[in-house]
Amino acid sequence: MADTIVWNTTAEEIIKIYKTDLSGKVVIVTGSNAGIGLEIARVLSLAGAKVIIPSRTLEKSHQAIATIHETVPQADLIPMQLDLSDFATVRKFAQDFLALNLPLDILVNNAGIVIEQKVLTKDGFESQFAVNHLGHFLLTQLLEEKIKASAPSRIVITSSAFNAQFNPITGLDFDNLNGEKEGYSMLCAYGRSKLCNIYHAKELQRRFNAQGVDVTVTSLHPGNVKTKMNGGATFSILKDLLKHIRRVSLTISDFMSPKDTKLGASTSVLCAVSPNTVKGAFYNNNKINTDLLHEEAENEEAAKRLWDLSEKLLSK
Ligand SMILES: NC(=O)c1ccc[n+]([C@@H]2O[C@H](COP(=O)([O-])OP(=O)(O)OC[C@H]3O[C@@H](n4cnc5c(N)ncnc54)[C@H](OP(=O)(O)O)[C@@H]3O)[C@@H](O)[C@H]2O)c1
Repeated sequence: MADTIVWNTTAEEIIKIYKTDLSGKVVIVTGSNAGIGLEIARVLSLAGAKVIIPSRTLEKSHQAIATIHETVPQADLIPMQLDLSDFATVRKFAQDFLALNLPLDILVNNAGIVIEQKVLTKDGFESQFAVNHLGHFLLTQLLEEKIKASAPSRIVITSSAFNAQFNPITGLDFDNLNGEKEGYSMLCAYGRSKLCNIYHAKELQRRFNAQGVDVTVTSLHPGNVKTKMNGGATFSILKDLLKHIRRVSLTISDFMSPKDTKLGASTSVLCAVSPNTVKGAFYNNNKINTDLLHEEAENEEAAKRLWDLSEKLLSK
């Protein structure tokens, strides 16, 4: 059956191929008011899941719900507020979700940003590091007991092929995680946050394995997908790209013909529902793909160091 899933199998086709039935299951998809996340939420609700739609404003969640209801009228969706750049709202979101007394079968950490200027969040962190990594790290910590109690359960973490392009060959620059060094580069900050996503996924998996709990954690590159994030590409992105690109492992066709979100959501949905999903693996184009990983992606010491540092930064 898995053979019928190829790179251009859409997210909706994947749940049909696997005859996925998520009735009674509860899913959270961050960043589900737009782009890839909106399609992930739509397809998982089509498979019968109750899906939490967290957005920076409740209005955006309601708009997303109205959009999903156009094609999935029976979708069971709950609007909630979550701003990953503001850790007080992350704590409030987790508290509100836990108060609902629901299981949590699938957590999709999908929200993300790429921004040209170095901007500090309310909590004092460089925005891409805060939203793409630290906010999701905190969210996952706060929901961890619920995820374990709902096992077998899954966590899907959206990274990017840029994890391998914009970090030095030696790996994560721990002295610049928060953009401390001079000369902020948008894509280097993005690449750092996306390598953090991979370390987070791999360390989480090791910890669940050590505890003997059946939680499957994966990370992935969704491909080059036509979304707000991508549409915002400007000349300065191109300049940054040419200056810092280190490995040409992205294919020309990936760049030249971006996917729509029906295809862009497929790898996340596959990781969330496939009976064959491999614990701790990195996926792209609906299959495991180690070519897009940074040379240091399997460095357990670095992943542990990032974990400890993230905990320390969040405890301040
Ligand atoms: N598109 C690509 O080619 C591509 C390639 C590789 C990886 N990715 C990754 O795929 C994921 C989804 O990106 P996308 O392309 O779908 O981008 P998108 O259309 O810009 O959607 C990003 C989502 O994240 C949400 N978000 C942003 N900042 C947030 C915050 N502070 N708190 C809560 N939610 C926040 C956005 O909400 P608002 O509407 O409020 O901004 C939106 O719902 C990201 O992790 C991205 O890094 C995308």
